[in-house]
Amino acid sequence: MSVLATPRLGEVLADLRGYLDDEPPALSLPPTAYTSPELWELERERIFGRSWLLVAHVDQLAETGDYVAVSVAGESVVVTRAGNGALHAMSPICRHRLMPLVEPGAGRTDSFTCQYHLWKYGLDGRLRGAPYMAGNTEFEKKECRLPQFALAEWNGFVWINLDANAEPIGDHLELTAHHFANYRLSEMVQVDSWRLEWRANWKLVMENGHENYHVIGLHRETLEPYMPGGGDLHVEQYSPWVLHARIPFAVPVRPEVLALNEIQRANGMLLLAFPASAFIAVGDQVVWFSFLPTAIDRVEVVGGALTLPELATGSAAVQRTQQAVTAMINDEDRLGLEAVQRGAASRFAQRGHLSPKEQPGVLAFYRNLAHALLRAEPTGR
Ligand code: FES
Ligand SMILES: [Fe+2]
Repeated sequence: MSVLATPRLGEVLADLRGYLDDEPPALSLPPTAYTSPELWELERERIFGRSWLLVAHVDQLAETGDYVAVSVAGESVVVTRAGNGALHAMSPICRHRLMPLVEPGAGRTDSFTCQYHLWKYGLDGRLRGAPYMAGNTEFEKKECRLPQFALAEWNGFVWINLDANAEPIGDHLELTAHHFANYRLSEMVQVDSWRLEWRANWKLVMENGHENYHVIGLHRETLEPYMPGGGDLHVEQYSPWVLHARIPFAVPVRPEVLALNEIQRANGMLLLAFPASAFIAVGDQVVWFSFLPTAIDRVEVVGGALTLPELATGSAAVQRTQQAVTAMINDEDRLGLEAVQRGAASRFAQRGHLSPKEQPGVLAFYRNLAHALLRAEPTGR
């Protein structure tokens, strides 16, 4: 699909180009970047059609038949654990006459049966049954299979890419491995998960995730005592896909559980994967997110909280408290970002000046965005 560079889109792209300069403007995106249908179409094609997205933790796909279904910028994806132990990422759109086989969510099944005419697919996407089709000599049941997407697993995190020929994400993630070496990521178990809908453009959500400056406002009662918004973010870009940041954080340390170094004891360690995925390790807790757009002004927020197995069996009351705090912080971001989305639609809105506190992360995100949208090939290829 090609997108015509309408004047409005052309202006947004010209502004984006500025972020590729050696000295980019310390300005936020033009407000139309959050409301332009033309830009959204371009993002669907050049970003979400080609990028790696974190969609689950392996604990959600532990048993044969476990599945997680998401929508990526309007494209349905289901990830399954097949009987031979392999994970598959597929398009769950029936090959007969296009009925989606499963809605976004998670569950366990031994097959997917289309509710329209009862065609039945296995966990690897191969067609297993198609009633009354024997008389159609053109139809080859053996060749009928749901389209397969690229899939990667790294330290328990499950990633998908709609582009089956995508460059592997693992090599890029591995560049940050030394930052997370002491956290025992691969041993961690998921103790909480969520699937939320926020009414905001995905870029607003991601730039919010690239700065801690907003903690002084949106999270002043909840996070500010531990993660002061005035603390300086230290950002390292490892590849066009992967950025690491450390955020000053009063980490509750339990040296008998995790042998963290001095930096890890004083910081939250953040991995941001362009375009829309992230996780942060804070001592023995890890929280992951993916902000999957479903429309120009909607994101589905999927994510989870992980901890070490020996801590996961702690008291239910403690776990409930942690879940409540996470939910509260998520909701503070949601309320703030939904309000900003409304602000972006104002005819009087304009680009804003960025604080030095937010520049390292936000400008890195804008640069990756500009790369992905302006280059014929996406970043990292
Ligand atoms: S559309 Fe799925 S069986 Fe007909
Ligand atoms: Fe926040």
